[in-house]
Amino acid sequence: MSDAPIGVFDSGVGGVSVLKACLDVLPSENFVYLADRSGMPYGNKTHEEIEKRVELCVQTLQSEGVKAIVAACNTATNVGIASLRKKYDMPFVGLEPAVKPAAENCGRGNILVLLTPLTAAQEKFKKLKEKYDNGRLIIAPQENLAEEVEEHIDDYRALKKPVYDVLRRYKNVEGVVLGCTHYVFLRPIVEEFYGGRIKIFDGNDGAARRLKSVLESDKLLSCGLRRSLKFIVI
Ligand code: DGL
Repeated sequence: MSDAPIGVFDSGVGGVSVLKACLDVLPSENFVYLADRSGMPYGNKTHEEIEKRVELCVQTLQSEGVKAIVAACNTATNVGIASLRKKYDMPFVGLEPAVKPAAENCGRGNILVLLTPLTAAQEKFKKLKEKYDNGRLIIAPQENLAEEVEEHIDDYRALKKPVYDVLRRYKNVEGVVLGCTHYVFLRPIVEEFYGGRIKIFDGNDGAARRLKSVLESDKLLSCGLRRSLKFIVI
């Protein structure tokens, strides 16, 4: 048992969508959320640059005394989670574009995978794609979408245009994977564009459930009531 907080980080607000899922699944846990806004956008940087940012996030969260860390970012996970697990003696949970549930729950139609350029370029993602692609996955890296969300998180009208501009290129789809935690905030706009005719997938609930099972098996669950929820911006 441990009442120490769980660290959650992303380049900005995107990981808040993951934090919400974690708060729901683990009502007794304390959390520290770290937004690495000086590192934003992760998705357009190099592998090496992201490794450095991720290292900084982990060290900052460690100084907060966290017992486990959620990389609430598909880009950071695909670039760096394997080396974090080797280097640090603590549980790490990551985010992965929800290609598997999409492939399993869609029929023969196309599945549009929206993600950052850096996630799309990683070996980890390429392996995931190979495993579930049978010619119906459309991999669509987005240069600017995460930044649009970061800037206009509370402005539906400002977000609608860039999202519609992207989706107009992909009218014939059965499912959409929101493969960046920032894009999870775009779900209502994606739903609206397709008139509710498609299925939409993200990895947030899966990550929250994985976090719970890792804490259970490592005997790290908190026994008390939630006492703290802290936000840090660097
Ligand atoms: N939210 C992050 C992800 O899930 C990345 C956003 C960014 O490019 O900074 O990939």
